[in-house]
Amino acid sequence: SVAAEKPSLTVRLCEPRGFCAGVDRAIQIVVLALKKYGAPVYVRHEIVHNKYVVEGLRSMGAVFVRELTDIPDDGQPVVFSAHGVPKSVPAEAERREMLYLDATCPLVSKVHKQAMRHVRLGRQVLLVGHRGHPEVVGTMGQLPEGSVVLIETEEDVAAFEPAGEQALGFVTQTTLSVDDTAGILSALQAKFPELQAPSSESICYATTNRQDAVKASAPGTDLFLIVGAPNSSNSKRLVEVAERAGSMMGLLVQGQHELPWDSIPPNGTIGMSAGASAPEILTDEILDALRARFDVRIELVQTAIENENFPVMRSLRDTPLTAA
Ligand code: F3S
Repeated sequence: SVAAEKPSLTVRLCEPRGFCAGVDRAIQIVVLALKKYGAPVYVRHEIVHNKYVVEGLRSMGAVFVRELTDIPDDGQPVVFSAHGVPKSVPAEAERREMLYLDATCPLVSKVHKQAMRHVRLGRQVLLVGHRGHPEVVGTMGQLPEGSVVLIETEEDVAAFEPAGEQALGFVTQTTLSVDDTAGILSALQAKFPELQAPSSESICYATTNRQDAVKASAPGTDLFLIVGAPNSSNSKRLVEVAERAGSMMGLLVQGQHELPWDSIPPNGTIGMSAGASAPEILTDEILDALRARFDVRIELVQTAIENENFPVMRSLRDTPLTAA
């Protein structure tokens, strides 16, 4: 038969993978806002870092904008993205009497609160994260000018000199590499033994779980596919984790059209996971494309069970889901 002629391929499929509770909630907020208020619903920045998700919402009537100044005063709501926003953004929305819905992930809001607590207690805040990422922009924008310093690497720790006698506190971006962050934090704690931490770093459960599953499945794989977007921080970290944990090559793919056929050896073993903003349909399409060329055997590598669910705000919860 034709099937017998196909070379085999073992796919180690990570579990958990894909959508986290914060992404799921943010998408639901846009969908429910469209049902409640009708189009357009404005969304400041990509609601989550995924083109497929953004295009899907756009086709339903969401209008993506960079800044609030791009939105007319037409009484339609604006949604803030899952990554969080600087305080100046809701303040500006209030000044313009806009209806806004904040889709900031509750775990990002928690980091904002920890950072503000440091400031309230007179501490200078060290934020471990990636410059320019919207979450970092949002967290820095919670705090008064000059009260926060961004730390990206262990070299930044070595170079950092605190201003005067001020106590120090730290928080981290939620989607960092667990291992890199451990290195940075031990460098910080070695240099500043008095450093006030939150009880742990602020890397979220979804980031941690996805990295754990990739780490467990990567050793010995010929290739490791991470479904995700090039601007997705947590997805990029999964590629790094796969390579460090012993995959020959980690690769970020946005969909089946980006599959690197030349790098998938017949009778080989590949790993596969998806970033927290990548919908499962993209993983399914990739598996279908692989099945068309290979006799695919799936090995599920499950390292955690996730039950997290973040409810949307009450004002949207009462919207009937059956509305046309
Ligand atoms: Fe929230 Fe973590 Fe997802 S911070 S948006 S649960 S990746």
